[in-house]
Amino acid sequence: MTILNLGSINIDIVYRVPHIPAPGETLAATGYSKGLGGKGANMSMAAVAGGGQVLHVGCVGADGDWCVEQLERWGVDCASVVAVSGPTGHAVICVDDLGENSIVIHPGANRMLTHDLVDDALTRIRKGWLLLQNETNLRVYAAEQAKMRGLRVAYAAAPFDAEAAQEMLPHVDLLAVNAVEAEQLGRAMGTFPESLPVEEVLITKGAEGAVWRGQGERVELPAHPVEAVDTTGAGDTFLGVFLGRIDSDKYPEAAMERALAAAAIQVTRPGAASAIPTPAEIDKFLMERGK
Ligand code: RIB
Repeated sequence: MTILNLGSINIDIVYRVPHIPAPGETLAATGYSKGLGGKGANMSMAAVAGGGQVLHVGCVGADGDWCVEQLERWGVDCASVVAVSGPTGHAVICVDDLGENSIVIHPGANRMLTHDLVDDALTRIRKGWLLLQNETNLRVYAAEQAKMRGLRVAYAAAPFDAEAAQEMLPHVDLLAVNAVEAEQLGRAMGTFPESLPVEEVLITKGAEGAVWRGQGERVELPAHPVEAVDTTGAGDTFLGVFLGRIDSDKYPEAAMERALAAAAIQVTRPGAASAIPTPAEIDKFLMERGK
């Protein structure tokens, strides 16, 4: 499947901490690392791992060359990623001993996409999906243009923003949320996400698995039990791999199986983008479990 991803690119600065700091608390980190992240970049890499052809549209600052190189090495087409003045988006992430996280993002270049950049990128795809989340600007414009060109639109309502989600929903064919976002969206819309008038809804529930709701159909699959060390980017990995496999036979089960396997591997490794498994690693994981 071809996917045009209007996607954020972040530099993730990660601190391992004994627990997530409370308000007013100063805490010494037990580990520090820097790597590629951003919901958009994570999803692009995961979609490639799922078997998709991915064109990434986005912006980085002068400090973000290595992020683009990493995406390209993985097989993401970055011809529509441009350098702008100002810093690349970045995220400061605390990960505790249970693998849970708290994240602060600075949007930086991710909010500097232009109409021309989006228009130009859209001419590069004839058929497939536009993928969006809330970390870039021009989401509604891109979705409207994509729909006019006959593309389908997948949207992860993350990081959650009620207003952004409400604006996006009329343009969305596939809505993806995690369990927390599902509750937040439910409160904002006055109805549970599964009941929203969107063709397909995907809800990831961490260790409890995932639910897909289509037109009159519902599929729920359990997660693979694993020892998580870092859950950062697990939802991005799930959605990216799922979309990369969206044209598989036995849809949605096959796409969900592969996405659950990829997310299970991803959480056993530290980091966001760098923890995403290769297609061969996903195959091996599934084979070992008789899938
Ligand atoms: O979903 C995980 C991502 O959220 C991180 O990689 C970070 O960059 C933030 O965008």
